[in-house]
Parts: sequence; C-alpha cells; structure tokens
Amino acid sequence: MKFPPGFIWGAATSAHQVEGHNNNDWSHWEQANAQRLANESTKKFGHVAAWERIKQQATDPQNYISGIAAAHYDKYPEDIAIMKSLGLKAYRFSIEWSRLEPAEGEWQEQAFNHYREVIKHLKDNGLEPFVTLWHRTLPLWIEEKGGWENGYTIERYLKFVEKIVTEYKGSVRFWMPLNEPEFEVLGAYLGGTFPPQVRNPIRAFRVFQNLVKTYNQASLLIHKLQPEAQVGTAQAAITADAYKNRWLNKIATSALSYFSNWRFLNAVKHHSDFFGVQYYSRPTINLSFKAKNNYGLPFVEQIDLGLPKSDMGWEINPEGIYPTLTEVWRRYHKPIYVTENGLPDAVDTRRGQFIKDTLAAVHKAVQNGVDIRGYFHWSLLDNFEWDKGFWSKFGLIEVNRQTMERKVRPSAYIYSNIIKNS
Ligand code: BGC
Repeated sequence: MKFPPGFIWGAATSAHQVEGHNNNDWSHWEQANAQRLANESTKKFGHVAAWERIKQQATDPQNYISGIAAAHYDKYPEDIAIMKSLGLKAYRFSIEWSRLEPAEGEWQEQAFNHYREVIKHLKDNGLEPFVTLWHRTLPLWIEEKGGWENGYTIERYLKFVEKIVTEYKGSVRFWMPLNEPEFEVLGAYLGGTFPPQVRNPIRAFRVFQNLVKTYNQASLLIHKLQPEAQVGTAQAAITADAYKNRWLNKIATSALSYFSNWRFLNAVKHHSDFFGVQYYSRPTINLSFKAKNNYGLPFVEQIDLGLPKSDMGWEINPEGIYPTLTEVWRRYHKPIYVTENGLPDAVDTRRGQFIKDTLAAVHKAVQNGVDIRGYFHWSLLDNFEWDKGFWSKFGLIEVNRQTMERKVRPSAYIYSNIIKNS
C-alpha cells in the first residue's frame, strides 16, 4: 500500500488516561464511583467473550481509579523513544488544563516547562506534535462553576488556549480544541454515564451550543496568534448502517449521524482547517419497540452481524471506516486525519489484522480521491479507559500495572512494517 508522500503516521493518547496523578473533575468522580462501577461490571460486561479473563480486574474498585495511570508524565522520554523506533512520525496528546491552572489564575510554571520538554523531545526525535486542548477533563474550580454549562468556562478556556498557543506556537502547528464534543453531550448530559451524569435534553443543548462557541472562538484565537496554524476537530464518527435498509431504520441512522456528527461539523466547518475523524466501529441499527435501550436511546437496537468482537464487546468492523471517510469528504471536502482508531485487545490476537484491514480501507478511500493526510492509532499505551478503568487494553505498547514496564506488542511491529513500507 503506497500512501501519499508526507502521509502522517502516528499514535494518540490523552493526558488523564496516561499521565498519572491528575487532580480534576474525573479523578474526583472516580473516587465517588469506583465501588459502583465495580458492582455494575458483571451486568455490563458479563456477556463479553473476554469476561473470564477480565472479571477479576473489572470487579475490583481499584480498577476505576486512574491513580498513576501509565506514568507517562515521567516516562515520556522512554515512550517517545519507542515511537521513534517504530517509525512513527507524529504523536497526538493532550495538555491537561488542571495542571497548568489548578486554581483560578494560578498558573504553574513547572507544568508549562513539562509540556515544553515533551514537545522539544518529540521534535528532537522527528515526531510532529498534534495537540488536543481539551480531552474530557476540567479543573475542579471550573467544574464547581458549572463546567461547560456555564459561559464563563468558555472565557477561561480561551485564556488557557491563549497561554498555551503563545507558549508553544514555535513548535506546534496542529491544534485540536476539543476531543469528541458531541460525545460529551451524549455521555455526560444526555446518557448520564460520564461526570457530571446529567440526563436533561435542555441542559445538553446548552452544553452543545457552548462547545460550538468554544471551538469556533478557539480557532479564531489560535489563527490570530499563529496564522499558519492548522486547527481541526477530533470527532467521534458515529455512523451506522440501516438494518435491511428499511426506511424507518434509514431515518434512525440519519438522525443518529446528524446528532452525533453533522450537527457539530456543520457548525464548525468554517473554522476548521481539517477534520479529525475517530473511528472504532460501525453499528447496524434497527428500530424496534422491544429494543433494549442502546446508546441510552429508546427503541434503538444494535443488530449483531456475527462479526468478531473486541474485549469490550464492540463489533470489529475495520472496513466500516471507508463509508465513514467518504461521507465526511463528500459533505465537507476538508482534509481529513484519522485522529483515533483502535480496539481493546489484551491478548493482541486481533489488533494486527485490524490495523491492516483499516489501513487497506483508508488506502482505498485515498485512491478514490478522499484527501486523507494521516492516521493515528489509539492508543500508544495501555491506559485508563474512563468508566471502564484499566481492564480494556488499547495499547500498541503493553504497560505492566505493577512495574509500569513497557512491552511493545507484536501488532505494533505490524503497524511499524506498514509505515516503513509505505
Ligand atoms: C476517546 C478516548 C477513548 C477511546 C476508546 C475515544 O472516544 O477519545 O479517550 O479512550 O475513544 O473508548
């Protein structure tokens, strides 16, 4: 598979999931919810094929406390060295606001120094930094003021962005203001799964509008500070197929795609230099009165296509990225980066093939004229998978939970070979 010259090969993480010892809205929520999540795990995941293997960890409350995470805050030089040895050319990571401004207006010089070092280390090793400015976590003082429901958060976030961009614009060109904003609306304000666990469509709509405003204003600000900057989304591509092509199912899949993709992309397209698409799976949807509340939505049933499943029970459907990418391209004609793609596979028997099949589909899209400029595997490291904790292993690199020792998984070498031969 020959990819266009300059195609960017990377891997991704987010601060809270890998750094360790963060103190933010999520780490507080973990303390309050670890026991509940452990109690609920059998009901939620008892049916997955990997259950026997994961149940000890999944039923342990400690699994749900991010704690030291993957110790990446200290071990980043080692992790960057591995990326370099695999032939990666870019690293997508996030900067943790709560480290830089743990209390309102109290900026921490040593945290700025830390990220300056990380960025320098990346550049010295030939890796392009792709920086996410918000990946699901907020400082506690912002959460206390109402988080994304409060317009004041936008103001303070822009202050944070201004500081970061002013500080690092000499070395960073690619910025993503928000990771999966529509997922925040769905998961935290409609479905009630993530903190602050709200289920209220009116409040959800307010958060959506605030996130659109945040993104657009951040983009204007970044371009003002750094005219050559590239600003883009990091959007969960929740696209689905309609079961048996029934018209009612087609309406349902269109509505699902609209609310989880196009609504946000329509609102930010004039402020985006690229679209970052994050693809994991592509469900087939059926509307039925008997349906068991999938995605927190009534009457929506996900049809089991009999495909193999990942450790979390998601269908492994790498080819599904093709229609997703072509649709984003057809609608917007913006350069695309795949900013996340991966699967939880602790025993690493499926990841290598998944990467090959996904990249074959990406390649096909490129051949058919879709302007795709890069691919980032999620994740570089085994990390803290939010409300699932540590049992779901997304890493190209395995992390030993006792010693924090790194071990490159065989699938990472498969990815590396594709890169080296591309
Ligand atoms: C998020 C990551 C998460 C991954 C796997 C994405 O939605 O950006 O933080 O770990 O999916 O669930």
